[in-house]
Amino acid sequence: MTAMAKKKDATVAAAESTGPDDGDTVASGLESSSGNPSCDAATRYMPTGETPCMSAVRRLIEQVAGVDTNVLITGESGTGKEWAARSIHHLSPRCEQPFVPVNCGAIPAELMESELFGHEKGSFTGAIASRAGRFEMAEGGTLFLDEIGDMSLPMQVKLLRVLQERQYERVGSNRSRPCDVRIVAATHRNLEAMIADGRFRADLFYRLNVFPIEMPALRDRIDDLGLLAANIMQRCERSGLDPVELTPGALRVLRDSPWPGNIRELANLLERLCVLYPGGTVDIGQLPGRFTRNVQIRDSDRHTLEEARSTGPMPQDFGLPGPNMTLKDYLASIERSLILRALNESNGVIAGAARILNVRRTTLVEKMKKYRIG
Ligand SMILES: Nc1ncnc2c1ncn2[C@@H]1O[C@H](COP(=O)(O)OP(=O)(O)O)[C@@H](O)[C@H]1O
Ligand SMILES: [Mg+2]
Repeated sequence: MTAMAKKKDATVAAAESTGPDDGDTVASGLESSSGNPSCDAATRYMPTGETPCMSAVRRLIEQVAGVDTNVLITGESGTGKEWAARSIHHLSPRCEQPFVPVNCGAIPAELMESELFGHEKGSFTGAIASRAGRFEMAEGGTLFLDEIGDMSLPMQVKLLRVLQERQYERVGSNRSRPCDVRIVAATHRNLEAMIADGRFRADLFYRLNVFPIEMPALRDRIDDLGLLAANIMQRCERSGLDPVELTPGALRVLRDSPWPGNIRELANLLERLCVLYPGGTVDIGQLPGRFTRNVQIRDSDRHTLEEARSTGPMPQDFGLPGPNMTLKDYLASIERSLILRALNESNGVIAGAARILNVRRTTLVEKMKKYRIG
């Protein structure tokens, strides 16, 4: 491997592992199977599903990957926007170059310019050393502007200029740097409504929206649930968890759920079930209350639910950690899932979950940060 290729791989790995919105703990357990990491990544991130809307999304991804067109991916949170962006990158001629995500909603407005374009030493208080920005890191590759709808209006102007002129300056420098970066942006917001309210610039929107892709909500492609669940379960298995089997009744209840958190919510649920009931069978009674509380339970399923509720959904026995998992990681995953469960029971109220777990609120907040729950 050349030094250059090595450097790029490292950048990609760093950028991917620090993906700000990647609350995914099982995806990292994937191993390379074809020997070509980019090829594997393209397969890994390609949206799963056989419903007509997902076949259409996949076609769009394949069509646009090969050209340098800007892409705007819209859809609710957790529908797979970042994954779609990654599959576009990995299918593109830029696949050997970095994929650099930046979450425009997570970076304070005053730091955004330096984050994107970098800065020179001494250009502002705290700039103790020069630093490359995300554009520079993504040179030759793809810059993923996540939650673009959260970018401030002044920053939108600056971004538009770079997209038009294909050059930028680091903060505190006059030297223009040319940039060869493909832009994929995403948002869960309705940018057209924001334009009407004066909160998003129409000119930037048209620049970004050259090729729109809309990721459907899970409830609008619920026929894909079984396939998605199987896919996620395989990932759990590869990351060392013991997969569970869902009974037809449990699947039915899941199909009837509204899934406000979309695939992310499904992936978190399945991961948690694998930790709680390793290698076991998950029936309606083992599903968290929020799934079973409001849905219509069939009469034939009712006894299962009532029986389970009376004994409580707590597993009697945790399985042994899988061959790829240390005891420490295993205990951490159990702790994480107990926290998720308590939060679930308290309807997301942290103080309530802390009471259920008998820990101080501050301790719980710290643990939630550690496990990237939030
Ligand atoms: N095609 C897919 N197959 C399996 N899991 C997926 C797929 N797309 C997304 N996911 C899961 O959903 C999570 C959320 O996806 P992400 O792309 O971050 O959503 P968004 O950016 O729309 O919020 C991922 O971390 C992953 O666990
Ligand atoms: Mg996202």
